[in-house]
Amino acid sequence: MPPAADTDASAALRADLLEAIAGQVDTPAYVYDGEAIDAAYRQLDEAFGPVPHAIHYAMKANSALAVVRRLQALGSGFDANSMGEVDVALRCGAVPRQIVLTGVGKRSDELDRAVALDLQAINVESPGELDRLARLAADRGTVARVALRVNPDIDAQSHPHISTGLRSNKFGVPIDAARALFQAIKTRPSLSPVGIHIHIGSQITTLDPLERAAEAATALAHALREDGIAIEQLDFGGGLGIAYDGGAAPSPEAYVQRLVRAAGDIGITLAIEPGRVIVGAAGVLLTRVVDIKQFPGARRFIVLDAGMTELMRPALYSAVHRIEPVRPRTGSPEAGDIVGPICESTDAFARDRLLPPVEVGDLLVIRDAGAYGAVMGSTYLRRPLAPEVLIERDSWRVIRRRQTLDDLLSLDV
Ligand code: LLP
Repeated sequence: MPPAADTDASAALRADLLEAIAGQVDTPAYVYDGEAIDAAYRQLDEAFGPVPHAIHYAMKANSALAVVRRLQALGSGFDANSMGEVDVALRCGAVPRQIVLTGVGKRSDELDRAVALDLQAINVESPGELDRLARLAADRGTVARVALRVNPDIDAQSHPHISTGLRSNKFGVPIDAARALFQAIKTRPSLSPVGIHIHIGSQITTLDPLERAAEAATALAHALREDGIAIEQLDFGGGLGIAYDGGAAPSPEAYVQRLVRAAGDIGITLAIEPGRVIVGAAGVLLTRVVDIKQFPGARRFIVLDAGMTELMRPALYSAVHRIEPVRPRTGSPEAGDIVGPICESTDAFARDRLLPPVEVGDLLVIRDAGAYGAVMGSTYLRRPLAPEVLIERDSWRVIRRRQTLDDLLSLDV
């Protein structure tokens, strides 16, 4: 048998296990390495050393119950971007005080439920939302725990579609308006100012913008102290990138060190909301070659049974993912476009990519698909959502079964 592919990101995603999984659950399928998720969480957690901190796992990256449960068991808190995610965290054993709610447009019923639950923080994104929240909490005769999401006007130097920290982005309130808004919070008995929240974007691979954002939030916290407002927590958001091309990315230790440095002697809890860096490298999308075609003068296409319906990132952000055969055949690599089966030309995972020789039926993995993979799947073309499988050392189990056509049609009336 040819050697297994080099599984540098996660040794647990072994060829024999991947073949067994494909044999039993079929492809396309997401496969995660549970221990790699734990290790990534612990690495960040330990990087803080004695510094008081909180890790709020950004559930949007991967909210499979089994993934959320294991992070809950490790002591993680949660960043939820919808009430659906809040409920997932609660069902996985989190208590409301471990959950923060973010979102650029929260409906009144959602805000009301967040108030009733008494979440760790409701991250408010505008003066109007602050006002709605104050009234809802007053109506309930309670006090809402508020963090203000500030927009520091810092370029994250990431893909524009996932940058959020510029004035031109829809997120948060301009940082120069924040001090006055905190004064307004102080005058509302139904609001308690608990934190400053900042999140400038995702897949950030240079630490400078993250550090500058943390410095800006820290400076605001000092200014608030002068105004007699003591917050409990500085939330520096998520955003640390991973090396999709297999190269180097900043280490979690270097990242945390910069944040701790930026916070200086502020002396309050430092929170972060990592998503991608915890689950991204721990997952692959397992897929099969369904066709190979090449006509004279045209490109060579390798067509997979996974497409943009399973992994949207390449179509949406021109994202690069490594793609490797599970059992590379011998022979010199050949270039080709690796595409999905969907009826859109943007449904391509890679253009002109070198790949060892492949044949129809071969299994491939698309690497680093643990974050923003399954959660962004769609049922376009009535394609059922792919299953998710969790490997634990030498064994594996399905943590979400493949959707069936009956599941899909059960919503049609
Ligand atoms: N906190 C907030 C408020 C966020 O909006 C996000 C991500 C995070 C934390 C987590 O960021 P991370 O540590 O994962 O970078 N679908 C895109 C990424 C969208 C990220 C949205 N917000 C992708 O596939 O690249």
